[in-house]
Amino acid sequence: MTVAADPRGPDLLGRGGTDLLPRNDPRQYDELADDWWDPAGCFAMLHWLAASRATVLPAPSRAGALLVDVACGGGLLAPHVARAGYRHVGVDIGLAGLRLAASHGVRAVQGDALHLPLPDACADVVVAGEVFEHIPDLPAVTAEVCRVMRPGGTVVLDTIAATWFGRVSSITVGERLPGGPPQRLHDPALFVDRAALAREFGRHGVVLTLTGLRPPVVGYARWLLARALGRAVPTLSMAPTRLTAGLFQATGVRAPQSVPPTTGPAPTARQEP
Ligand SMILES: C[S@@+](CC[C@H](N)C(=O)[O-])C[C@H]1O[C@@H](n2cnc3c(N)ncnc32)[C@H](O)[C@@H]1O
Repeated sequence: MTVAADPRGPDLLGRGGTDLLPRNDPRQYDELADDWWDPAGCFAMLHWLAASRATVLPAPSRAGALLVDVACGGGLLAPHVARAGYRHVGVDIGLAGLRLAASHGVRAVQGDALHLPLPDACADVVVAGEVFEHIPDLPAVTAEVCRVMRPGGTVVLDTIAATWFGRVSSITVGERLPGGPPQRLHDPALFVDRAALAREFGRHGVVLTLTGLRPPVVGYARWLLARALGRAVPTLSMAPTRLTAGLFQATGVRAPQSVPPTTGPAPTARQEP
């Protein structure tokens, strides 16, 4: 692939400056594939997010319970899902990530989050980590996530709010911080309106609870120090915060009785302290 130099030069990780694909181009994940499983690399925060998703996974309610990991990337959730006792199917658009996910025990399937290659109501849990902010059709991706959830099933997602704070924390500052999102991976125009997200899930009988997420301050300082000294970095998990205007997690349970999607007003999200 021919690439142009990034006029802003390399970022603080010494990356960038070469791969100037358009913002939100999923091919960037293929180019960065070597970083998926590096806890000190440019996907470090995804490791911390996977750890915080694991804290809200319900225990499996039946033998052979299935967790569908929409946009599983390199499969960072795999050890957490195995520990929780679910079968783990991961769907992603990118082959490089899927290969890694498969090597970590995920049953990896290539597909688009807008057309999941899975049957209706197959999943006890659907996880969609850091993908809603990459998809331009919120109603369609929400409908797909809800379609594959069993009645009574759980959804766990995290994404970035369409706010001034979301843009500053994830792009202006976040893209320049070690461990933060690599440059140009996000298009702020696709960040997620929290009310619209809650409304779309509500149409499918899922009431979302939102919790803000931030890196743990002391843990992050230790991570930076260890990384600078070339030592093994500590394992972090995101800290919960009341502020959902930046990075946030949303969880919900699909109504036990399968309800047809509604078009009227839907329940709004609960904000969790
Ligand atoms: C920020 S990564 C998150 C990966 C993983 N969920 C995690 O948290 O480690 C976003 C992932 O979304 C995938 N992706 C982007 N658009 C997609 C789409 N339309 N359908 C499926 N996967 C998509 C990318 O290939 C990438 O692996």
